Amino acid sequence: MQKSLKIKNICCIGAGYVGGPTMSVIAKNCPEIKITVVDINKQRIDSWNDNNLDNLPIYEPGLKKIIKECRGKNLHFSCDVDSAIGQADMIFLSVNTPTKSRGIGAGQASDLKWIEASARKVAEAAKGTTIVVEKSTLPVKTAETIKIILDSSQKDNKFKNSEKKDFHVLSNPEFLAEGSAINDLQYPDRVLIGGDNQKAIEALESIYLFWVEKDKIIKTNLWSSELSKLTANAFLAQRISSINSISALCEETGADVQEVAKAIGMDKRIGSSFLKSGPGFGGSCFKKDILNLIYLSNYYGLKEVGNYWEKVLELNEWQQSRISQIITKKLFGNLFDKKISILGFSFKADTNDVRESPAIKICKDLLEEGAVLSIFDPKVESSQIFESLSNGDENKNIIISKTIQESTLNADAIVILTEWQVFYELRWPEISKKMRKPSWVFDTRGIISVKELKKLGINVWRVGFSSKI
Ligand code: UDX
Ligand code: UDX
Repeated sequence: MQKSLKIKNICCIGAGYVGGPTMSVIAKNCPEIKITVVDINKQRIDSWNDNNLDNLPIYEPGLKKIIKECRGKNLHFSCDVDSAIGQADMIFLSVNTPTKSRGIGAGQASDLKWIEASARKVAEAAKGTTIVVEKSTLPVKTAETIKIILDSSQKDNKFKNSEKKDFHVLSNPEFLAEGSAINDLQYPDRVLIGGDNQKAIEALESIYLFWVEKDKIIKTNLWSSELSKLTANAFLAQRISSINSISALCEETGADVQEVAKAIGMDKRIGSSFLKSGPGFGGSCFKKDILNLIYLSNYYGLKEVGNYWEKVLELNEWQQSRISQIITKKLFGNLFDKKISILGFSFKADTNDVRESPAIKICKDLLEEGAVLSIFDPKVESSQIFESLSNGDENKNIIISKTIQESTLNADAIVILTEWQVFYELRWPEISKKMRKPSWVFDTRGIISVKELKKLGINVWRVGFSSKI
């Protein structure tokens, strides 16, 4: 390939938490490029096309504004996968890659069936020269699989003597965090492009150059790029497990984890981000990517490496169990028919995503003890809560509250599980009067003032803090 490749048409397969926001930001910054986001899920596409922007399938601050600006102009959502692939010069693969539930590597390896299906679709429907970009987080060397599938179609094609197809595969991992996706995409710390074809790399780089400084765009080989994504998530998750391990020690010794985090975070070598102790990390990526890293290490016979990362996950699960045990113990070891107000169900603030949310395990443990949960979350739909806690069935011990007042009324305890802004602003004097006594507040996010609540006669437990001292 000699000529530089000019990208006029982009197709993105997968209109999820990654595909939707990523393509929206590209559309906003590149008005001359036509972008079509396709998905096999018609309901999802219909929601992306809904005239009422409150019905978009995902909630992200700033997303509605971009959809309003670009949808129907250079940004389209469609179920017509073949036609969008056929028109595209560049195709992003943003389909989900959950952990395999059966077969070889079950419970650890990534399930690549959607990636493979998408690669086969691309092989079939693409025309001319097409750059295929891996956006989904994938095990190292997946690009090779994609290449083999695409190249074999090329051979098929030549055999049939029809139009020649030419594919280049790039890895361009996503580093956006949910809840701040639009900001992360608009102002990335870095953009990583892995590949072996210079022209294809330059074509993708030229898109980012519309809004990202050149020195923030890093180019590596394919495998470094794929492995960097897994490693970045593993390192971030490891910091959370590290600080959560210290939170338990703080509670025993009288140290305050927030003070410890501040003190260590001011050391430039450590840095202050990702040191918030909480109920453990959730979200679709961290656990899955670490499992992937463990699988990969064991596959290459590096047992010690696998064991090392395994501990990060173990600590995360322990933190969740530890919290539900503390709640049970403080309530006299008996939760039967007690009303517990759960504030927050999403895995972090500013998203409606509940995948791997620590709230799931903690709520399940409390239900197991016979508690009645009154759950309030500003963005999560009731159906998602029922799906996560009882496979979608109604359960008389799970009540979805529409307001904080309803959730906390006559509650024996309040458990704060997500750090939504509204929970920083709770009116404790009013709430405390309407709770059953003795009342408890369990703050798993470290957002309340222990002093204020104690003055109101509420018993308080805050992660990483000992009220005994
Ligand atoms: C992303 C990444 O792609 C994943 O690798 C990462 O680890 C987590 O984030 P995400 O966008 O969050 O996935 O997933 P999801 O919201 O489930 O969206 C994926 C979409 O792809 C779904 O809407 C699904 O219907 C669609 N899909 C899946 C297709 O359109 N075609 C398929 O063959 C498979
Ligand atoms: C993460 C990565 O940050 C992002 O770069 C990658 O592309 C996808 O995975 P995400 O899972 O959306 O993003 O959110 P993130 O902000 O990383 O939070 C993950 C979990 O860690 C949440 O449950 C959050 O509450 C928790 N967390 C985060 C802490 O407990 N403490 C912290 O200090 C930071």
